[in-house]
Amino acid sequence: MAPPKVFLTGATGYIGGDAFYVLYNKHPDWSYTALVRSEERAKQLKDKFPNVSVVFGTLDSLDLLEEESKKADIIFHFADADHVPSAQAIVKGAVAHTADRPAWIIHTSGSGILGFEDTRAKTVGVEREKVWDDWDNVHELTVTMPDDALHRDVDKIILGAGEANSAVKTAIVAPPCINGTGRGAGHIVSQQIPTFAREVLKRKKGIVLGEGRNIWNWVHIHDLSEVYLALGEAAAAGGGNATWGKDGYYFAESGPFYWGDVQRAVSKVAYEKGYIPTAEIDTLGSYEEGLKVNPNYNLSYACGSNSRSKSIRARKLFGWAPKRPEQLLDLIPEIVETEARALGL
Ligand SMILES: NC(=O)c1ccc[n+]([C@@H]2O[C@H](COP(=O)([O-])OP(=O)(O)OC[C@H]3O[C@@H](n4cnc5c(N)ncnc54)[C@H](OP(=O)(O)O)[C@@H]3O)[C@@H](O)[C@H]2O)c1
Repeated sequence: MAPPKVFLTGATGYIGGDAFYVLYNKHPDWSYTALVRSEERAKQLKDKFPNVSVVFGTLDSLDLLEEESKKADIIFHFADADHVPSAQAIVKGAVAHTADRPAWIIHTSGSGILGFEDTRAKTVGVEREKVWDDWDNVHELTVTMPDDALHRDVDKIILGAGEANSAVKTAIVAPPCINGTGRGAGHIVSQQIPTFAREVLKRKKGIVLGEGRNIWNWVHIHDLSEVYLALGEAAAAGGGNATWGKDGYYFAESGPFYWGDVQRAVSKVAYEKGYIPTAEIDTLGSYEEGLKVNPNYNLSYACGSNSRSKSIRARKLFGWAPKRPEQLLDLIPEIVETEARALGL
């Protein structure tokens, strides 16, 4: 393939921004077009990545998404794991491709798909044993995953497109709890732990959800971006070593953590840095109590559920392995500082 035409959504976001940083620097000869929704974001993006073209629109600019997906060889959809119409529009553009010039869709989902048992049972802080893998048991992610799992509706649109059309090649990346500072233009901070830290700083007292025994995995954003790079390069090579289509599902994790350890560490750092006046920690024992902390953010789900993913596919196919030296708890002081600054403390 000649240098591919790449279309990206979410290039000014945390995940998309860092992945774009890596793609742009490693492959300056590729042509990049990014969906942006404001002049300000367009300027930030162009200042950092001068050769990117921008198209203005939102995820609801469906004709635009379809058109750009028709024109592109590779489509990175980073912006939203839950937005159904934009996924449908991208697929609509992709199916206009032909088998000898397929569309390669690299979609971002999230390992939040694995938390449905906690949502159903309204549990927080409870340890669950089930570990999901993306290799031996990939069908549990792609076929038998229940419809009430988070992100599942969009995952099904992407998977369905890949299965039904020889002109559409799909890969889904489902990151766990991502941390570390992004290198993109725009958002450079993650969501779950920063949001948790912000709530602790706002209420001026630490929190643990239930017994804090629930487990997620995490990955450093720089390590995650290597998976997107490997998939982009595989697409540019006509498929490469990557799996596309019905089994093309990729976790990318560097290990598990107990949320209680993170919650206690956030509270301790916030106290030791003088941002909160007490080392005492409140236990929020029920799903409902967690929900009340911030009506706009489901803390019970984000920080009280289980999401135990095992990434085998990227390791086997790309020799991917996390390289960043930090342990998750090493990153907590920086996260707390960043949120404290954002709150003007
Ligand atoms: N962060 C994590 O730990 C994590 C882990 C797994 C999965 N995910 C999922 O991955 C997706 C992206 O996460 P993120 O952390 O990168 O989010 P983010 O930092 O908020 O970035 C979102 C990106 O999408 C763009 N965007 C959002 N809504 C849009 C709209 N309606 N129209 C046009 N552009 C829009 C944003 O543009 P602006 O710059 O204009 O805001 C930004 O570029 C989310 O669905 C998230 O749930 C996140």
